[in-house]
Formats: sequence, structure tokens, C-alpha cells
Amino acid sequence: VAHSATVSAEPRRREREVHELEPGEFANAEDSDPTLPPVRAMAADAVSPRTAERLAATVPPATVITTTADVDAAVARAEAVRETWAATPVDVRAAVLRRAAVHLEEARADLVATAVHEAGKTVPEVDPEVSEAIDFANYYAARAPDLEADPDAAFVPDGVTLVTPPWNFPVAIPTGSVLAALAAGSPVLIKPAPPTPRCVQVAMDAVHRALDDHGLPRDVVQVLLSPEGEVGRHLVTHPGVARVLLTGSIETAALFAGWRPELDVLAETSGKNALIVTPSADVDLAVADVVRAAFGHAGQKCSAASLLILVGSAGRSDRLRRQLADAVTSLAVGPATDLATVMGPLTEPASGKLLRALTTLDDGESWLVQPRRLDDEGLLWTPGVKFGVRPGSFFHLTEVFGPVLGVMRVETLDEAIALQNQVTFGLTGGIHSLDAGEIAHWLDRVDVGNAYVNRHITGAIVRRQPFGGWKASTVGPGAKAGGPHYVAQLGTWTDAPAVP
Ligand code: ALA
Repeated sequence: VAHSATVSAEPRRREREVHELEPGEFANAEDSDPTLPPVRAMAADAVSPRTAERLAATVPPATVITTTADVDAAVARAEAVRETWAATPVDVRAAVLRRAAVHLEEARADLVATAVHEAGKTVPEVDPEVSEAIDFANYYAARAPDLEADPDAAFVPDGVTLVTPPWNFPVAIPTGSVLAALAAGSPVLIKPAPPTPRCVQVAMDAVHRALDDHGLPRDVVQVLLSPEGEVGRHLVTHPGVARVLLTGSIETAALFAGWRPELDVLAETSGKNALIVTPSADVDLAVADVVRAAFGHAGQKCSAASLLILVGSAGRSDRLRRQLADAVTSLAVGPATDLATVMGPLTEPASGKLLRALTTLDDGESWLVQPRRLDDEGLLWTPGVKFGVRPGSFFHLTEVFGPVLGVMRVETLDEAIALQNQVTFGLTGGIHSLDAGEIAHWLDRVDVGNAYVNRHITGAIVRRQPFGGWKASTVGPGAKAGGPHYVAQLGTWTDAPAVP
């Protein structure tokens, strides 16, 4: 079992610049007034003219794709630079990545402000994301020479790569995916997730500046603002696109595969992740980590803790239950633009599975903390915790992607592991235990890509905790993002030509 660090590590923090807000412009959870306009709309309207001007000035142009002919033209531009980029020496490609890291750092404040406004992500959630993007740049730059390290093997780049990133990590995942493909010698088309195009535009502006620094063509990375539907399908199925790097739902991965079965898709998909707490656990630490992993970015992470499985006396502990309820009800909920907010809004209004999870109880379930909707649109919710989730139920097995945690209780660690492994996904998982035997037992049996011990289960750190799932959480060869083999899987390995 590949597992990650057994110690907790705080994300790097840096000084940051935050735009100014006018007092009184934002609703907050305590005095939420139903007559006020929806929170996200207010936040967008409430950008001060100076901030709006700066954001507009920092958003570089992207190609707007409205027809299939536009797609063909974009792919042709990428193909036109394909050989130049593939022939650019690996150490120069690595140098471009390192320059991108510098420009991303320069753009930190703009990236943070853009993600706050576009994704509703709080500053403490998005600032480490910028650090992660920078870490990807420097780490993949360090791995690029691996492509030439083996005298018996030659690496052939894939060709034009399409990146389709998610909206929940709107900076780190697009940037990491693009830079990995660049390190591997492929030009990139990136189609941002519809809610978060500007984050991608600002991040790719940093990459363009890095290409400029080395006199290389900007067409090596093109941002395509394209609608879903027929035009999006044309892009995914275009014969000039050699590979897709997708981070998104399992449904999207299936859609792409259905459109073009022979397409080389490498995907990070969904998760339904559980954190187990045994009777030996440090309850204070366990509760803090569960709350962080379940409600960070309002639970909108594939890595989030969606299930808490309490073993034996931990499941009967009034103290644990009280602490959990106190911690959850005291989370400050509000707009992401309010620096006092701990849990911000959803990026898109709750619907479907998430709305069901937030508003209904199935057999045996009861609310320890019942979620409340704070706005008309269904973006801002207080977090919820339901006890009594039954094995095999909707909540046990379904990814809901939002601020609700389900609690299951069992007598033994083996029962807990069985429930954890019963889900089709295998992305992250955790255990809180101070018993080395229990920890070893769990590590030998849990079917997840990232297994965390006595730590929250989100926020993998580049190089230290390469990130990626097992089972239905991954499509493709499966080397982990931020790990030693990620770049090297983005191409074909052949025997090296014989030296004359
Ligand atoms: N890499 C992200 C995390 O670990 C998804 O939470």
C-alpha cells in the first residue's frame, strides 16, 4: 500500500495582498437576510472599481471557440508548434517551467483574488493552491531530465494534449496538468471548467511569460473558452488531439470514452472517502482533522472526508459527539470575500445528489447537525453531520461533493475497513489511531491511493504525497500527480536508437 506522511504538515503560507472591500457590502451567516440578493451575486457585484480594473487588466485574452472550425484552427496552431516544442531540449523545457514558477509567484495575489471571486474559495484555501501550482512547476522541471536518463530507452512525446481541469482546484490542477504535459514535450490546449475560466487565464498568462522569456511560441499553450455540447465534443474527438488529461467526475470520463473509445485519457475522477477513528485515537486531533477534511472548500474536493467511521467505544463517546457538533456548528459560514469566513459558498447551487444529501435522511439516519440553506440560490449552506448512515445506503456509496458528513458506527476495525473498501472509488482515506498495530493492519488492507495516518485527508503535498486514486478513482496508467512517474507516463517509450 502506498501511503503518505504520518505527520501533519501545514500548507506553506506567504504574505499576501488582498483587495479592499467596502464595509457593509457582504452578507454573513449570522445576519443572513432573506431579502438580500444571493451571496455570490453580491460578491461579484461588490468588487471595487479598482479591483475590477485590476482583474480585467490581468486577464489575458483567450481564444473563444464557438464553432467546430474554431476548434480545427486551434488544433492546427498547436500542431504547427508541436515539433518545435518536442525538439526543444529537455533542460530548456525545464527552464521554462522554472520561469513559470517565478511568474506564478508574481501573480499570487491576482490568482487568489480571481479564485475567491470566481470559485467562492476562501483565501486560506486558495493561497496554498498557488503554492501547489508553483511546487508542480519546480517539481516537474526537476523530473524532466528523467526522460533522457536511460541510455537504452527513448521517450517520444504524445503530441497535442487537451487538458480539461475541474473548477474546485481552479489554479493548481490546471497548472500542474499543463506543466506536466509541457515537460513531456507536448503542446497543450486547455479548456477551463465553465465556472472558473479566469483562474486558468491568469495562471496560463504566467506560463506564456515563461515561454516569452525563452523566445518560444505562446501557441505551445492555448486557453480555449469553448461551450459544452457539440463544440466541446469536437474538441475531445479531434484526431489532432493525441491525449486528454481530465480531472473531473467519473461521468465525464465515461462520456469522453463513449465519444472516442481509442482516446488516450488519463483521468483523476471521483472519490467517496472515509476517515476511521478507533478507540485509541486522540479525540481532539481526530475531530479537528475530520472537520477540516470534510468542510474545507465546503466539501467540494474529490479528496474530502465524506464518511466518518467510528470503531467500538469511539462510536459511543459522548465527548467525541459533542466536540464534533461544537466544531461543526462553530464554523464561520459566509462569502469567500469575508476574511472571517471559514466555510464559503458552493461554486454552483446545490442540486441532484448533493441537494438530496443536504435535505433528506434515509432509513436509520438522524441529524447531529442539520444543514441550513442561507440564501435563495442554494449556494450558501451551513455544514451538516448525519449519524446512522447504513451500509450500502445512498450516502455510504455516493459521492455528493458538498458540506455534509455521514457517520457510521461499527464494533471492529475490520468492519470499518470493509465499509471503507465497499465503495467503488479508492481515492483518499484516513485513520486516527495511536496504536501502531491498528495502523499497520489498516495500511495493509485499505484500498485507496492516498492513505493518511493521524492527519486530515485532503491537501496532498507535491513530491511528499503524490496524489492519485485506485479503483474507479483513476483512468489510465495511474502514475500519481506530483509524483516521480507522472511526466514519464505522458509519452511512449521505445528502444533507444543504436549509437553508430
Ligand atoms: N490534491 C488535492 C488534495 O489532495 C485534490 O486534496
